[in-house]
Amino acid sequence: MSSATTPAAYQVSRLHEKLSAILTISQQMNSERDLGILLDLVAREATRLLGADRASIFLLDREKLELWSKVALGSDEILRFDARKGIAGAAALTGKVINVSDAYYDARFNSTIDTQTGYRTRNLLAVPLQNLIDGEVVGAFEVLNKRDGAFDAEDEEVLKSLAAQSAIAIQTARSIGELTKENAHLWHEVEGRYARHHIVGNSSKIQSVLQLIERISDSSVNVLISGESGTGKDLIAKALHYSSPRSRRPFVALNCAALPENLVETELFGIEKGVATGVNSRMGQFQAADGGTLFLDEIGDLSLAAQAKILRVLEARVVERVGGRTSISVDVRVLTASNKDLEAEIKKGNFREDLYYRLKVLHIRMPSLREIREDIPLLANHFLSECCRDSGKQLELSHGVLRRMAERQWPGNVRQLQNEIKRLVACARKRVITEEDLGDGIPETGDQERMSPARAGASIKGAVADLERQMIADMLHATGNNQQRAAKALGLSRQGLINKMKRYKIGP
Ligand SMILES: Nc1ncnc2c1ncn2[C@@H]1O[C@H](COP(=O)(O)OP(=O)(O)OP(=O)(O)O)[C@@H](O)[C@H]1O
Ligand SMILES: [Mg+2]
Repeated sequence: MSSATTPAAYQVSRLHEKLSAILTISQQMNSERDLGILLDLVAREATRLLGADRASIFLLDREKLELWSKVALGSDEILRFDARKGIAGAAALTGKVINVSDAYYDARFNSTIDTQTGYRTRNLLAVPLQNLIDGEVVGAFEVLNKRDGAFDAEDEEVLKSLAAQSAIAIQTARSIGELTKENAHLWHEVEGRYARHHIVGNSSKIQSVLQLIERISDSSVNVLISGESGTGKDLIAKALHYSSPRSRRPFVALNCAALPENLVETELFGIEKGVATGVNSRMGQFQAADGGTLFLDEIGDLSLAAQAKILRVLEARVVERVGGRTSISVDVRVLTASNKDLEAEIKKGNFREDLYYRLKVLHIRMPSLREIREDIPLLANHFLSECCRDSGKQLELSHGVLRRMAERQWPGNVRQLQNEIKRLVACARKRVITEEDLGDGIPETGDQERMSPARAGASIKGAVADLERQMIADMLHATGNNQQRAAKALGLSRQGLINKMKRYKIGP
């Protein structure tokens, strides 16, 4: 510290150093696939940042109520103990931070490990390993013996950030099975079922999609998923990946519609250092998905030039980075989604037929919500319980409201229904949500004729397009051309709305 540095400035710069260290670790975490190495890295970094003597990461086995970890990196020896005894276990089971300044005076402290190892614990800090995205606690992170004094509030914050990063990495790496030497097949089963569980629907259309996913769960064929916006194409792509033998390898999703033409190649295939001034080398998404699945969303929006390049990668199974001279071999399953009619695009010369057949080894067509009206009550209640869980509210949907929902138009499909439930939950003032609470933004089926004059002899596709065009124009008008709000009200993403506006030639 220079003599000119004030204590406050010193504190800020020390905190800054800690935050940037956390950022660096989290970046390393994203690229490190071996969970054992990763956890070791985080533990070492935690001892350094917190000035502690030791750090351990324990994973929670909920079934047996045990905590476990590897004794040392690279060893297969596993330390297991009862999570109901000891402070790390208490942090994992209660989800709370526990900071103990004198271990032997704390009733929760389990001194048997000290007795076994000969180590003497003075003070310790334990935080739950909690994934902040879904709130799941997967274990505990513990640091022992601060070199000077006891652990303070800043240490708690630093350890909590590291723990949150590790929890995500642990879940993403999905390597717990590898570490415990559990049967990989069992994990595959569990993950697959878990992924399929998120898909709700008793209608025969949804059930046959689920059966198909299960039937092809031991293969890696390319699948094209088509369907209107908000019908669950993303959801299906994830279920396909997590049900497949590739489930423990990366799932990389890329929205082709959001890619500017000049970045497509770099994004997909990567770039070499020095292609332009200041450019560093970077891997593309094909390489990032190596061994796993690449999900190309809105594939119909890719230029013909980009389509040709993808076709080459699929045929040769190698990528070449922009400005690169060598071929990098990749093993990638490609899932694609489109809400455009790709066969029509082929006829118009906008989509390559050869690529289409490579991508569409199997085709899953997601039904619109109109086609699975019988699932509406089930879906509505499913989203209701999700929202209630997140908001801590306890709400019900009346029979009347469910009936009205089942009769309504949902041009934004399941996503729009989900958004409507979110809105109802946010606005709810009484326990039972009734018909009066329904928004008036969703037209009844009876309004269809007003919205879209059903011309005699017109195809369903044409009529749906008319309806979409009309609803978008009306909503843009109603929101004073505010695309963000119009998209929300229609249950679309903003990009989804822009794409549709382009398609229907609706000016801003
Ligand atoms: N059958 C279903 N069961 C449960 N949730 C569903 C189902 N279908 C869709 N959802 C939910 O609806 C929302 C929209 O689904 P998703 O993003 O997969 O649609 P999409 O077809 O990819 O839409 P877009 O074309 O706009 O990208 C998501 O939150 C998804 O989880
Ligand atoms: Mg999608």
